[in-house]
Amino acid sequence: FHVTWDAESAEKEGYEHFMIKEIHEQPKGVSETLLRRLDTDENIVLDGIKLTKEDLENINKVYIVACGTAYHAGLVGRYAIEKFAKIPVEVDVASEFRYRDPFVDDKTLFIAVSQSGETLDTLAALREAKRKGARILSIVNVVGSSVARESDDVFYTWAGPEIAVASTKAYTTQLVAMYLVALHMSSVKGTLTKDQYDGIIKELKTMPEKVKNILDNHTRIQHLADGQFNNESVFFMGRGLDVHVAHEGSLKLKEISYINSFAIAAGELKHGTIALIEDGTLVVALATQDRLYDKMLSNIQEVRARGAFVVGVAKEGNKEIEKTADVVLYVPDTMDELTPILSVIPLQLLAYYIAVARGCDVDKPKNLAKSVTVE
Ligand code: G6P
Repeated sequence: FHVTWDAESAEKEGYEHFMIKEIHEQPKGVSETLLRRLDTDENIVLDGIKLTKEDLENINKVYIVACGTAYHAGLVGRYAIEKFAKIPVEVDVASEFRYRDPFVDDKTLFIAVSQSGETLDTLAALREAKRKGARILSIVNVVGSSVARESDDVFYTWAGPEIAVASTKAYTTQLVAMYLVALHMSSVKGTLTKDQYDGIIKELKTMPEKVKNILDNHTRIQHLADGQFNNESVFFMGRGLDVHVAHEGSLKLKEISYINSFAIAAGELKHGTIALIEDGTLVVALATQDRLYDKMLSNIQEVRARGAFVVGVAKEGNKEIEKTADVVLYVPDTMDELTPILSVIPLQLLAYYIAVARGCDVDKPKNLAKSVTVE
């Protein structure tokens, strides 16, 4: 009698890959990152962040800098900080920021976002911003990492160790971090009413359950993937916050399935990308933003008219989309500002199941590293 057992399969706890295990760990990661920061009165307590009212009054600009998935979290961060805390924000990929002599001074708050805290470009950008006098805040998963050590203020995401190269739970916890930092700034600056602030916190607290709800229905996405894994190219599109999630969904898919995928702002379709749509082209259309819903339905019609097969992502209850999209993946209803935490989940699952159907080594995609510590 022989039992084959190795440490790796034990760590996967019955899941076929680390990636799918980590996807399923998101309700826990989101909840840990969030609830550890709320006191009994639902005030946000950020132990690692010492920004005072005076500090924030001195800041006239925020720069969010990161690479890969963390950069996509930064794009959502810009929206949250501008909307909640009313401070202008720029977002940049670290490898660009460090080489273009950006306007950074002692009135700048520089926010580095990094799962590993060891990405060389992000670290170098941080050092450059520090040299120019910026205050450095970081959102990091790995405790005691280089980015964390070199920052003035640190927000640790509590995703737990992330092993799969394609980042999933780090991203959703980075989103939570971004919202909390933005809300913290808003409460110090007094830019939201108490009702607005309380409403957002209350809704944030429902996120772990809503993420779980999407994960519980993963088999539908698996079936969809089984019918769509042969595509040579896939387009993701959305408007408003959905564009940023479209970019993250597209990155997930290309990283692990090697399908040529890219994301666009749906309003840009007619300026080029629509030329590439032909019979059977898979288009993933995110339509979670109420204000932009009708506009997205028109964009879906435009690609459908050229023969695209459209997978729509919408909030439960917004059924109109069923008239235009071929398949609709619903996420639980929530306020527009918070949809990225939910809408990314079906895209992660879609990328995962497509890659599995194509026989790819999901946890160790070719040519990619978990942490890029070289230029
Ligand atoms: C690599 C990983 C990505 C990650 C990026 C930034 O490219 O494959 O998943 O998003 O680095 O990594 P960081 O550790 O700085 O978040």
